[in-house]
Amino acid sequence: MATLRIAPSILAADLGRLAEQVAAAEAAGADWIHVDVMDGHFVPNLTFGTAVVEVVRRSTRCFVDVHLMIDAPERWAEAYVQAGADLVSVHAEATVHVHRALAVVRAAGAQVGLAANPMTPLTVLEEALPELDLAVVMAVDPGFGGQRFLPRTLARLERLRALRDAGGHATLLQVDGGISTDTIGSARRAGADVAVAGSAVFGADDPAAAVAALRRAASNDE
Ligand code: DX5
Ligand code: ZN
Repeated sequence: MATLRIAPSILAADLGRLAEQVAAAEAAGADWIHVDVMDGHFVPNLTFGTAVVEVVRRSTRCFVDVHLMIDAPERWAEAYVQAGADLVSVHAEATVHVHRALAVVRAAGAQVGLAANPMTPLTVLEEALPELDLAVVMAVDPGFGGQRFLPRTLARLERLRALRDAGGHATLLQVDGGISTDTIGSARRAGADVAVAGSAVFGADDPAAAVAALRRAASNDE
């Protein structure tokens, strides 16, 4: 079984020393760097413009995973790719033009992700699987870090893995929100290929030790 990829979210990072924090996460063994973009409309929080992605891009060789929690993401996706995103995920709930939004990301030269909130029917992701490099199963209501992992997420991951495998798709499954040493093992066993971790990494005194602890917890099969 492929190793679970760990994607620290900079939402929990000390933005006064972002480049240093991103480099520390990479040195700690992070696989991806997750950038949570929020517009204050689709979610009740406002975060990062493209300039922050440029800083992340300059600070790491890690895969840069940009999570657009914004309305009408098709308007901004190309700008985030130009700023350095390797992958852009858009929310199925944020546009009536999901197919067009995915095509915009692909045309801009990045990998394509689609995210679903905790109660959005998985049929939305299922429908898009043939076009997706990544399917994002939100384990919290989007907008903030440090929230509790919603247990319903595990059954959703299992169902989506079954749908992905039945269709013969290569889409990676990402679990996003509430990942800690207590939840990462069950999320991996339920089907997660990528685990986003914000507060568990950047909220820790020692991000390197935190990433190592997450990896150990992920590999536990109890
Ligand atoms: C929430 C974001 C998540 C969040 C993860 O809207 O999409 O990526 O930052 O933070 P933690 O790991 O602290 O739940
Ligand atoms: Zn996210």
